[in-house]
Amino acid sequence: MCGIFGYVGKQTNVGDMVLRGLKTLEYRGYDSWGIAVKNEGKISIEKKTGKIGNPKLSFSQSNIGIGHTRWATHGGVTVANAHPHLDCTGRIAILHNGIIENFEGIKEDLLKKGHKFVSETDTEVFPHLLEDLEKTNDFSTAFRLAFNKIKGLNAIVGINSETSEIAAAKTGSPLVVGVADGEFYISSDSLGIVPHTKKLLFLKDNEMVILGKNLTLLNLPEGSEKNPDIQTVDWKIEEADIGKFQHFMHKEIYDQPKVIRGIAQREDEIEALSEIIKKAFGTFFIGAGTAFYACLAGSYFFSKIAKRHVNTIAASEFNYLEDFLTDKSLVIAFSQSGETIDVVEPLQRASKKGSKIAAITNVLGSTIYRISDFKMLINAGPEKAVASTKAYLAKLAILLMTSYSLSGKIKEGSEILLKTAEEIERILKDEDSLRKIAKGIKGLENVYIIGRGPSYPSALEGALKIKEVSYVHAEGLSGGELKHGPIALIEKGTPCFVFAPNDETYDAIMSNASEIKARGGMIIGVSFKNSPLFDHFIEVKDIKEGSILSQIVPLQLIAYFLSVLKGFDPDKPRNLAKSVTVK
Ligand code: F6R
Repeated sequence: MCGIFGYVGKQTNVGDMVLRGLKTLEYRGYDSWGIAVKNEGKISIEKKTGKIGNPKLSFSQSNIGIGHTRWATHGGVTVANAHPHLDCTGRIAILHNGIIENFEGIKEDLLKKGHKFVSETDTEVFPHLLEDLEKTNDFSTAFRLAFNKIKGLNAIVGINSETSEIAAAKTGSPLVVGVADGEFYISSDSLGIVPHTKKLLFLKDNEMVILGKNLTLLNLPEGSEKNPDIQTVDWKIEEADIGKFQHFMHKEIYDQPKVIRGIAQREDEIEALSEIIKKAFGTFFIGAGTAFYACLAGSYFFSKIAKRHVNTIAASEFNYLEDFLTDKSLVIAFSQSGETIDVVEPLQRASKKGSKIAAITNVLGSTIYRISDFKMLINAGPEKAVASTKAYLAKLAILLMTSYSLSGKIKEGSEILLKTAEEIERILKDEDSLRKIAKGIKGLENVYIIGRGPSYPSALEGALKIKEVSYVHAEGLSGGELKHGPIALIEKGTPCFVFAPNDETYDAIMSNASEIKARGGMIIGVSFKNSPLFDHFIEVKDIKEGSILSQIVPLQLIAYFLSVLKGFDPDKPRNLAKSVTVK
């Protein structure tokens, strides 16, 4: 995680420009932020904890600067730990995304040599190491040698006030260079660069770049020069407009009918995805968090509708289960951001084994999009709230359509999606009743959610939404597992949401609801019909498998209302980031 933005060139208001760039990267972390610019031959720094907001910067004119928005890994959220970090002389400023795994040993050596450290971060070893190596090398060589000494998946960017150059190198996290006339931009993604220039250089792992008067690209570790493959893209960055809403999370929940209708129209792309699945010998779905739950729901759709087996694995676990991949396997990655390192890494490993890799992602030009053999955009529009809502439903819609396509009935899939969009609109009209339910449970410490079959992922996803934005402990369980242990947690008044759609799971899940009720639990039924077992009833009309999509919407809204009622910021929940680029 962490966002990096830098500029060197003709413009002299670099502080404000870097600040604007950082704002586009805040989704990568918002614990603290900082900017360094060259000022009369020295480096000036401004750092603050918390979200960026609208600060007034006091930098004088400068044409070179770098900035960082942090998601803390080593060291708490303090101004001292915020990036950029300086060397002892104050000539070198460094930003970092990743974890320097061997920082302790390096720090010990540097302390013995007399270097003074002011933060608890792993990052701070880098400027001091660089300072040490610069005694006998030029800036570029010292930067390369320092980068070669550190271990882990890292992206590091630095400026030197004497040479007026930006140096950057990476082994893991993304870095994009924007090239304009006598100007260079560098950023963790292309979002903040594309408004300035459409000429982009995506740095590969083990590459380093020096930006100053010119651009020099080097191979790591040895430092041989190579030709940069600068691509001209025609991307338009879609701006997210919050409209009449107070929070993006609320707005994005309301975007869902439109997103689903859009997917219902994409029959050709879905058929193309089905074709590559048909050719594969072993298909694996991977994703993280919400995306993983979408994969899980997809495996139920594939079994039920397409009569096909797919292996669904949390992406962060896939590295340990990859031994059975062959050159006939197909790995399909689901990722809103397209940058999640837990997804990127197994894809790269699968690709090395000769397996085909496919990306279903929401971000054009993202790492996962670029490295995949087959790519399909989710087209949900920008998802700004950290908690994923519309991207989840969009993935489910793609998976449902693909299952129908594989069974030769794509039109039926498309019709179900259109009805689902209508049903979601109906649910949204009655959000007040969901706000009341949120009010009723807001003071309670634990919430349980159960579902079976394709509703089991709904239980997991509903619980994740509540946890993320309201900080209430919520657990999603399969109804069948309840009596194998978790039922011990049910007490008088414990709220338990029960997903009971009109499918083969209905009778069994209602028996599980009775078991909870018998122990005093408060049952909130999410179902096509009311039942005497329910203390509260949330109606979700039956639209075959489309109900698996629409039934999550009430839980998304309840999570949102819980967050607002408790006075939290649902768009930027504590400890989280929208793009998870560390392991
Ligand atoms: C939850 C959430 C996360 C992401 C996960 C993967 O609301 O947003 O669980 O789903 O971090 O992110 P992507 O889809 O960007 O790979």
